Amino acid sequence: MAHSEAYKDAGTPAEQTRRTFMAQAVYALGGVIGLGIAIPVIASLVPASDAAGDQWSGLTPEQADAFKKASNQPVKITFSLHETNGYFGATDTDQFVWGVRTTEDKLKAERPELFEGANKFPYPAVAMGFTIFSPICPHLGCKYAWNQDKSKFICPCHGSEYDELGKHEAGPALRGLDPLPLRDFQGKVQITWIEYATNSPTMIVQKIG
Ligand code: FES
Repeated sequence: MAHSEAYKDAGTPAEQTRRTFMAQAVYALGGVIGLGIAIPVIASLVPASDAAGDQWSGLTPEQADAFKKASNQPVKITFSLHETNGYFGATDTDQFVWGVRTTEDKLKAERPELFEGANKFPYPAVAMGFTIFSPICPHLGCKYAWNQDKSKFICPCHGSEYDELGKHEAGPALRGLDPLPLRDFQGKVQITWIEYATNSPTMIVQKIG
């Protein structure tokens, strides 16, 4: 076979198997390296609980009162998302998150992955007696909603279902609902908006604030 034709040669079955293995090994190595980078990135990007600054969006006193009254049903918390970027400067847009009243012990029992390993949340996962969830479905990014009749969060796009504490129960999503930082800072209730990569078993930060 001419040298210029060599790339067309599929090779023997043994060679093909070796090539497939090498390709898979390269992908796996890339994943491990990516994970190694992603974990410290999550921890380093999330703002400290006592930090002032643009990464925290405040609730109005009325919005804060409304969500603090929530009892045992998840509550939709609306707030004005404060963002700063190089193109538009500071902007405020209406946004919402889901708040669930719970305790750390309860959350730990239901969502142990938020307390250790690759998806450890580098922030108190329960603050002010609540866990706050991003409204973005971790499958492909639709907005899911609480279904009171079924007592589940259900995504209308591809049917992923999550229990009250965000544990993935059904559908194509690869992880549970993503928590967001919440704090009571100098008498003001504040939330940090974080967008994570969708369709991944790991919470990889894409954007903060
Ligand atoms: S985007 Fe929610 S299930 Fe697909």
